[in-house]
Amino acid sequence: MERYGSAVVDVGRSDWQHHVLQLPETIPNPARVWTDDEIATLRHGHRPDGMEDKWFAFMEGDRLYLHRSWTGLGVYEVQFSPAGSGHVITDAVVTGDADQYRRGPDDAESDRLERLISRVLLGESMLGRDLQMHPVTPRVPRDEPVALRIELVVGDITRQDTDAIVNAANESLLGGGGVDGAIHRAAGPELMAFNRGLGGCATGEAKVSPGFRLPATWVIHTVGPVWYGGHEGEADLLASCYRACLARADEIGATSVAFPAISTGIYGYPVQAAAEIAVATVRATPTRVRLVRFVCFDDATRAAYAAALQR
Ligand code: APR
Repeated sequence: MERYGSAVVDVGRSDWQHHVLQLPETIPNPARVWTDDEIATLRHGHRPDGMEDKWFAFMEGDRLYLHRSWTGLGVYEVQFSPAGSGHVITDAVVTGDADQYRRGPDDAESDRLERLISRVLLGESMLGRDLQMHPVTPRVPRDEPVALRIELVVGDITRQDTDAIVNAANESLLGGGGVDGAIHRAAGPELMAFNRGLGGCATGEAKVSPGFRLPATWVIHTVGPVWYGGHEGEADLLASCYRACLARADEIGATSVAFPAISTGIYGYPVQAAAEIAVATVRATPTRVRLVRFVCFDDATRAAYAAALQR
């Protein structure tokens, strides 16, 4: 147990595996003013609590160190400085080691860092923050869906910093090509090791793993149908994938989910038909997810989703 000022630090550098942050890259300082009580809480550090908790954090003086729990990788360092009635961040860096961490654009990393500190280390819920910043609104009863926003982008799903990303996997859940291969490469070998314990997944179903080295906290693995011409129940199975992924998201409390175009690659599902099913099922499924982002890998797929969203 060490002391810094008046605070007693419960978790220190030596309390968890950690590797010094490599290739530091400066990112914009989050503008938030942090209260003395919040800084006192941060000084206690954060020890990962269970497999799903991805972060280990400790403070030395006024500098906060944030490491991945599974690998010990140094991801962020943050310098706080007293300012007026509280503290502000005067220096923030993220690791530029692309082999270990898929960082996003500067502003996205700055937002993510602020959310990480406020939600993981200070325990603020998004709802709690929203309620502080906006007029108090009644909490939505658990059994009522919340307003769902749908986004459509062209991009790489491994770079999405939504709470969860969906993997178009096969029934073994032990990796493959396409988006499955990309997610395993970006998440690191810990993902394969974890998935070995999942016992596979049936077509139309979905299972969850941590995101490991991905920006996303979770990966929801689903198995889409192979296209055999449309008379083998493919449409129902594909719709079942989207429902199952939203159900897993609700179970883990993920409020933002990025989907690839499930089954439209190696499994050969016609893109327009698959996009219609994806959009219609997401729109029709009661869920507490607030943001669904369809991440297309090419313009043709994007056009199919745009047409489906127009309907
Ligand atoms: N980000 C977003 N979308 C991607 C990415 C990526 N990094 N890589 C590929 N895609 C797109 C493909 O272009 C396609 O539109 O994901 C969609 C799904 O294609 P596949 O990955 O081939 O998935 P699927 O058709 O469901 O076939 C699953 O392929 O990779 C194997 O193990 C997997 O056996 C399973 C089968």
